[in-house]
Amino acid sequence: ATTLGAAAAQSGRYYGTAVAAGRLNDQTYVNILNTEFNMVTAENEMKWDATEPNRGQFNYSGGDRILNQAVGNGKRVRGHALLWHQQEPGWAQRLEGSDLRRAMMNHVTQVATHYKGKIYAWDVVNEAFADGGGGGRRDSNLQRTGNDWIEAAFRAARAADPAAKLCYNDYNTDSINPKSTGIYNMVRDFKARGVPIDCVGFQSHLTNNAPPDYQANLQRFADLGVEVQITELDIAGSNQANAYGAVTRACMAIRACTGITVWGIRDTDSWRGGENPLLFTGSGAKKPAYNAVLDAL
Ligand code: XIL
Repeated sequence: ATTLGAAAAQSGRYYGTAVAAGRLNDQTYVNILNTEFNMVTAENEMKWDATEPNRGQFNYSGGDRILNQAVGNGKRVRGHALLWHQQEPGWAQRLEGSDLRRAMMNHVTQVATHYKGKIYAWDVVNEAFADGGGGGRRDSNLQRTGNDWIEAAFRAARAADPAAKLCYNDYNTDSINPKSTGIYNMVRDFKARGVPIDCVGFQSHLTNNAPPDYQANLQRFADLGVEVQITELDIAGSNQANAYGAVTRACMAIRACTGITVWGIRDTDSWRGGENPLLFTGSGAKKPAYNAVLDAL
């Protein structure tokens, strides 16, 4: 195969990218998007601040634009993200307690219902675990509504869109470390108690290397009976091409690793300004990292 999406599809996997609605009138961008990728994540347009800017008033214009462009060109869509402590609208940042919990669950239900039947997998909860050695939850207004907020969100998402796979998504989870182990323990507990969870997303914002235990870490989650997906891949640094190859091979070695998403198309589209962490140059040329990925798929 000669494109990322077609190469991934040979083993039943997908190859995706984050898309920004504001770039969909850029011809170079759209040409690469339509040629290379068969999965799309809205970079910002399905987040809480975008979809519910005022309490109870929903705006799906950007998200729908991305979804319609994707579906119209034969691609599937990962939903990102129903609940996250960042990019909360101001009104939600000012809520707490049972009022916030009600608003959170209504948000999950409303957005998942709007997109019902159209989303391959939802990042139901994003970045809920703390960095560092504790392995526990991150403090946030969401967490302060009660430790059961994550499972409540997964149950609400399942009820609203039974066809979507439901994922927990986070960063700094690319090796076996206290944070990833905290998430591992949560997923194991959810599976044991029947909380609906289908997948774990590993953002994989990396520099130079994939950790040596990257594959082993994915494998231990897969062994819990969930899919694993690489959801926001970008890699800075001079060893970029080798590292992209290593990440790709790790996913390919695990049956339950169902796909990889890069967090943008060209270096100039990246949120990591100046780090050039993506597969295409600013002018849309394929980089060595692109060839390393294609070779490994
Ligand atoms: C980033 C976007 O790329 C930026 O455009 C935005 O300003 C901030 O969010 N983890 C996530 C993504 O889950 O949603 C973030 O995306 C990057 C880190």
